[in-house]
Amino acid sequence: MSPKKIAAEKAVECIQTGMTIGLGTGSTVYWAIHKIAQRIHEGLMIRAVATSNGSEQLAQQLGIPIVPFSEIGQIDLTIDGADEVDAHFDLIKGGGGALLREKIIAANSKQFIVIIDESKQVDKLGRFPLPVEVVPFAAELTIRQIRDLGCTPKIRTTDGQTYKSDNGNLIIDCDFGEITQPASLTARLNSIPGVVDNGLFVQMASCLVVGYKDGTVKLEY
Ligand code: A5P
Repeated sequence: MSPKKIAAEKAVECIQTGMTIGLGTGSTVYWAIHKIAQRIHEGLMIRAVATSNGSEQLAQQLGIPIVPFSEIGQIDLTIDGADEVDAHFDLIKGGGGALLREKIIAANSKQFIVIIDESKQVDKLGRFPLPVEVVPFAAELTIRQIRDLGCTPKIRTTDGQTYKSDNGNLIIDCDFGEITQPASLTARLNSIPGVVDNGLFVQMASCLVVGYKDGTVKLEY
């Protein structure tokens, strides 16, 4: 079994009947959504909200009940992946472009479980370029201000076209080198008009589930 699948399936063990579940986005969460669907078919009763159109569609195809936000209070537990995780459980997310919705859902969850394979654990964040979501209006000016914080920014493209998030915004992948002060960087980025949010998730994760190539899995709190 792949390390991503091992981590995802372990995290799904934490889900109990009656919970409202936040579904993250990405290739690791893909396995979690499948496992949740399997448990629902075995009798688990939950409802869910999703962090991307892709995860919502997959969940619906597999029979996971997706409910409108107006019908829920706090989310009991969200399971999501990450691109990098450091020793303080600070994260870089947004490789799949869903960082804004992911952060909204994580911030409204009692528990935020991060599922990764061992390759995502790092000493310092920053090898993975930090995704920053920017509104298209005057994006050139916003990107200039982001660059002034000390990074090399690159507008994300896909198949030669400018990538647009589910919210219709641009994603700017920003190479800051080693990020030594994630809390300060996230505050400075988000204070730039035109920046919607960035992929640094600082002190948000409650638990980390790591899958290893040798087939083992580790939970860290
Ligand atoms: C989606 O925008 C991301 O935050 C993902 O959660 C992150 O990129 C991890 O993705 P994988 O599980 O596909 O590696």
